[in-house]
Amino acid sequence: MADSKKWVLMATAQTPTNIAVIKYWGKRDETLILPVNDSISVTLDPSHLCTTTTVAVSPGFEQDRMWLNGKEISLSGGRFQSCLREIRSRACDVEDKEKGIKIEKKDWEKLHVHIASYNNFPTAAGLASSAAGFACLVFSLAKLMNLKENPSQLSAIARQGSGSACRSLFGGFVKWIMGKDENGSDSLAVQLVEEEHWNELVIIIAVVSARQKETSSTSGMRESVETSLLLQHRAKEIVPKRIVKMEEAIKNRDFSSFAQLTCADSNQFHAVCLDTSPPIFYMNDTSHRIISYVEKWNRSEGSPQVAYTFDAGPNAVLIARDRQVAAQLLRRLLFFFPPNSDTDLNSYVLGDKSILHDAG
Ligand code: DP6
Repeated sequence: MADSKKWVLMATAQTPTNIAVIKYWGKRDETLILPVNDSISVTLDPSHLCTTTTVAVSPGFEQDRMWLNGKEISLSGGRFQSCLREIRSRACDVEDKEKGIKIEKKDWEKLHVHIASYNNFPTAAGLASSAAGFACLVFSLAKLMNLKENPSQLSAIARQGSGSACRSLFGGFVKWIMGKDENGSDSLAVQLVEEEHWNELVIIIAVVSARQKETSSTSGMRESVETSLLLQHRAKEIVPKRIVKMEEAIKNRDFSSFAQLTCADSNQFHAVCLDTSPPIFYMNDTSHRIISYVEKWNRSEGSPQVAYTFDAGPNAVLIARDRQVAAQLLRRLLFFFPPNSDTDLNSYVLGDKSILHDAG
């Protein structure tokens, strides 16, 4: 390792968020973050909903530190520590001849990192900020520390930061395989189809509320696991069959089947929340009105044009079958749900499904 305390080595990455079309809800192991069922998601275009993270290492740094959107946050939480520990244990030699820096594998244990992360969307408002955040943290640190692991192996590390984060290590459609091992080694993400596979789809996010949600996903799913019988039935009987059908629909670009499965799974996830004691309400009246509106439209067309899905918050994620439908959808949404009206709706975010973007 070069002696001077002056050198700093940095790496930057940009990671988009992902939206589950078959939801992850419930853990069988809280520490390792092992889910009770497989899930499938689509990764969004990084230009609208993404995290950008720069990580730096220097012998002058006295402790690990992190800033989120310019504000320092604590790294003492178990999830950050798990990710940092897992990455450090796999770090390799790094050499920058120009700067005269050589870091050996064994040096990484003694060196501290500084992490600066920015979200270009509201944090913790049901827009899966933790997914992009932890995926980006793991991806940028892996780059800095020259890890040799492939994206699936990195996804198993990101998973320990936030379950849904493991799916953001890939673009396009992604499956998080729940795995069987009790140590979690086979609970990881795989890409289902190439990024370009279903390019016609357009995703519109209706930001119903950018406020921080009342019940976090973590505590909500813990309560559901403890109290909801519907969750047990869903995990064992419903999701395994749905996963097979969803993979089929994605491979065949069968929008009717895709939309039917996506909407049904979102509705069942929110039914599980209602079946939880005390019940959890993530959607609000505007969310319900959007569902009714899309259902009516799809019925009047004779086949689905738009799929909807809602995560742990009231914001609607709408997936249009093509650009023409998306333009029509946006016009109709702006007419029936004008931003900043009594609907509580703030804005719309347009995006395509996308690929992982390395900004470094
Ligand atoms: C509703 O991944 O945020 O968005 O693993 O506790 O961090 P933790 O939970 P998180 O949960 C996401 C739940 C969901 C569904 C999904 O993304 O599959």
